[in-house]
Amino acid sequence: MTDVQNIGHLIFGYKLNPFLSLRINQNTILESILFSSAIAEDLRVYLGQQQFSQLGVITDSNTAIACYPLIKEILPEQHRLFSFQAGEANKNLNTCIEIWKWMTDSGFDRKALVLNLGGGVTGDMGGFCASTYKRGIRFINIPTTLLSQVDASVGGKLGIDFNGFKNHIGVFNNPEAVIISDQFLKTLPAEELRSGYAEVIKHGLIADPNYFHDLKFEDWGQQDWKTIIEKSISIKKEVVEKDPKESGLRKILNFGHTIGHAFESFYLDSEKHLLHGEAIAVGMICEAYLSQTRMGMEAADLDLISESLLRVFGKIEFPDADVPNIIALCSQDKKNEGETINFSLLKKIGECDYNIAVSESEIQDAILFYKEVKHE
Ligand SMILES: NC(=O)c1ccc[n+]([C@@H]2O[C@H](COP(=O)([O-])OP(=O)(O)OC[C@H]3O[C@@H](n4cnc5c(N)ncnc54)[C@H](O)[C@@H]3O)[C@@H](O)[C@H]2O)c1
Ligand SMILES: [Zn+2]
Repeated sequence: MTDVQNIGHLIFGYKLNPFLSLRINQNTILESILFSSAIAEDLRVYLGQQQFSQLGVITDSNTAIACYPLIKEILPEQHRLFSFQAGEANKNLNTCIEIWKWMTDSGFDRKALVLNLGGGVTGDMGGFCASTYKRGIRFINIPTTLLSQVDASVGGKLGIDFNGFKNHIGVFNNPEAVIISDQFLKTLPAEELRSGYAEVIKHGLIADPNYFHDLKFEDWGQQDWKTIIEKSISIKKEVVEKDPKESGLRKILNFGHTIGHAFESFYLDSEKHLLHGEAIAVGMICEAYLSQTRMGMEAADLDLISESLLRVFGKIEFPDADVPNIIALCSQDKKNEGETINFSLLKKIGECDYNIAVSESEIQDAILFYKEVKHE
């Protein structure tokens, strides 16, 4: 079998033979991650090397229009397409039922291959459905948002929202391969691109000072995305490889997310909707404040982090009266054990620690810091 590294446009990554790949899937270690600058051609070659009885493609209603046409031509004529209404609201059991029905009606057997073409919603849910259909069939993820390329594509977390709880039902399992192309970013709405950029900034902050310092905060939309995707994936991959099931180190990826999730949940019910990355940007400023007060991070680092994030994301204004409600949402975060609210905080830019217990009054101070921080 040809090594995928040798395929024309695949810039990085490796391909394991199917046997090894299967074993790796069961051990929830890491999948093959391939980068393509010519997605149709590379996918054609890749699929040509795979054996499958049927091929199913899952998209959402936007990627059906923006992304599917980029690969449609090279897919086997008999492939089946399933498309669901785009949006987190549809990452639920009802859509899974539709997907499992579609797989059944299409006569998928255990040798069928599923290709998830879309953002994190498509990858998480399509992967979950494939992992549970007939006790698991193979799937490939082709993430089409920056967020899903740098974050959701690595680490094997799959699942759906349930009863108002995010990612409440799911499994750890890895796709056969993840194929990433910056071609998809051309049609991605700017705010979605920016949302993914928050995770990129986070990767620099938790693991690599040079990466953070080299990032653009002015004209951030004009970037060499390939280099960024590659670097961010290598950071996430390294962390996840050391701690696949999040028993320790992997928690550093939650930097900005404890308070960030609280903001995300708070604005779910309001007119002003916050994208995940927009909320995490607020969370990272608050948690950088806690990093200074609790971990002795230098004040200059706090200033730099705040300024950089505000330049990209602007500032969110909210009344003092909202603060207690936001704090209350922090303590409902599923990452907490017992009474304490555990945070992942920075010792300095590029170095992060986890399981730091923080009190509600400290969280309040952090949110008030954000409220008062200057932004021209
Ligand atoms: N598994 C993990 O480790 C992990 C990590 C982070 C986030 N997630 C999950 O990922 C989800 C968020 O991912 P997301 O931000 O990609 O959301 P998403 O999948 O909803 O995509 C965002 C929007 O962009 C559209 N879109 C996607 N690609 C496009 C393209 N190329 N051109 C035009 N439009 C396009 C989608 O239709 C959607 O409207 C959440 O459900 C989150 O829980 C999972
Ligand atoms: Zn995130």
